[in-house]
Amino acid sequence: MSAILTCHKQDVLAPMTEDNVDPISEIVSSRQRAFALDDICASVCSLATVAVDGSPRTRVMNLNGISGRSFELHCSEQSGKWQELLHSPAYELLLWWPSVARQYRIRGELEIMPQALVEESWLRAPYLFKLLDRFYQECQPLGSKLQNHQVLLSSINNLKTKYPNEQDVPPPQHLRGFYCKASWIEALYIDNLRLHQRHCYLYTNNHWRHELLVP
Ligand SMILES: Cc1cc2nc3c(=O)[nH]c(=O)nc-3n(C[C@H](O)[C@H](O)[C@H](O)COP(=O)(O)O)c2cc1C
Repeated sequence: MSAILTCHKQDVLAPMTEDNVDPISEIVSSRQRAFALDDICASVCSLATVAVDGSPRTRVMNLNGISGRSFELHCSEQSGKWQELLHSPAYELLLWWPSVARQYRIRGELEIMPQALVEESWLRAPYLFKLLDRFYQECQPLGSKLQNHQVLLSSINNLKTKYPNEQDVPPPQHLRGFYCKASWIEALYIDNLRLHQRHCYLYTNNHWRHELLVP
């Protein structure tokens, strides 16, 4: 919370007029500032989905990139979220960057990422993450019952022996990626926890419409 109190007021209350709105570039520049301020939340987001029984699910995920209206996320086909999204594409993405005192809530369409791009991106992942993904494929699926932590450690060591070179670890088949393509964004600008601004953006007819809401 102390990061909120140290953010600069001129950044928090950047004006935005009705006919000159681009919430995505605003999000991108807020994120750049958050990265520059070493905000650990800048690299992640929270994704809410609807489970098969209609109950809510949320989890933190790496936000791999923002391009156009699309927010890129990666997961495994074995994960609960992937099964939930296949069942119901409804989601809400939450970005909260304390260093710049901004919250963004994003809804829209879901687009599946081409598999070639998913694998290309995975090749840049850290060695240990790659080995863990191989563990899901070769040893036990993600989320299955683990006898004890040592089982995981020794399996990862075996995988290190099997794939000694980071660049030679083959991409597993369960990798998936998707885009949350925004059509509704709500931005909350926080001013030292007292005076907030609440902006709502709706994407229709190829442009963003903006409304200011009571915060
Ligand atoms: C900082 C952080 C980053 C994470 N990034 C991802 C991610 O990019 N993809 C992912 O599937 N899970 C990621 N996770 C793990 C998820 O939060 C979650 O525990 C896991 O995916 C299982 O969720 P599910 O059963 O709802 O699919 C991350 C967790 C943390 C704390």
